Amino acid sequence: TNRYAVIGNPVSHSQSPFIHSEFARATGEAVQYEKLFAELDKFNEVVGQFVQNGGLGLNVTLPFKGDAFRMAQEVTERARAAEAVNTLTFRDGKVYGDNTDGVGLVRDIVENLDFPMEGKSILILGAGGAVRGVLEPILEQKPAKVTIANRTLIKAESIAHHFAPWGEVQASGYEALEGKTFDIIINGTSTSLHNEIPPLPANIFTARTLAYDMVYSKGLTPFLKRAQSENAGMLADGLGMLVEQAAESFHIWRGVKPDTRKVTNMLREVLA
Ligand code: ATR
Repeated sequence: TNRYAVIGNPVSHSQSPFIHSEFARATGEAVQYEKLFAELDKFNEVVGQFVQNGGLGLNVTLPFKGDAFRMAQEVTERARAAEAVNTLTFRDGKVYGDNTDGVGLVRDIVENLDFPMEGKSILILGAGGAVRGVLEPILEQKPAKVTIANRTLIKAESIAHHFAPWGEVQASGYEALEGKTFDIIINGTSTSLHNEIPPLPANIFTARTLAYDMVYSKGLTPFLKRAQSENAGMLADGLGMLVEQAAESFHIWRGVKPDTRKVTNMLREVLA
């Protein structure tokens, strides 16, 4: 069989083995997919061991996406833009890196939710690794404008500057959002993990706004609750993105595109 794994620290909570096993079953691919824990300073060592034992590919999760980017000998443009890799492929003695997070997010919004990004005004909250990871594929959709709002303004400015070659990106503080509205508001901060919410001005959501939280949870996240209370047109969490980024990795490795909807529905039930 063909060995793959997700590597992270922590990694025990990862849903990737479940998702990839379902993909393998549905497509008939002979894939074995496990979890790989690495101490913070042992990423290269653990990956090297995995490759020696015949491993063909890895999904990389926190906090190793930067290490994976540096390890890869060849990376795709979207991974280079993100300076982060979530999919490693080992072939003919070479290490290839890609980042499927952004395309996962874009597919969930544009295809699954049927919400085109072209010509739209998009607000992204946060300026950490999660946001860097998804910006290039978003800009490829040719939105009218992307605004990055962050508590620490200089980090948003740095991202806006970095991604300027790929499209129209602006940095903003939260106060400066007062009175503005957007077609799509994506929460890329870590707030939902801590039961917090970014300091958004009132009435930023409208009846035509898609509110999207990159975090997923059993019930609505605090961000989505706020969006709901302001009657946002559509609410979605990041479960669809999780499954879509996995499907893109599976496609890179196996050359077949698994169906995602069924697996997303199954995961939703496990969470419920
Ligand atoms: P990740 O790699 O998941 O993006 P990160 O690099 O630690 O994690 O970034 C976390 C993001 O959430 C940052 O944009 C952070 O804002 P700052 O850069 O100003 O720290 C944002 N964040 C975390 N807690 C927040 C809060 N209570 N309100 C607003 N933003 C918050």
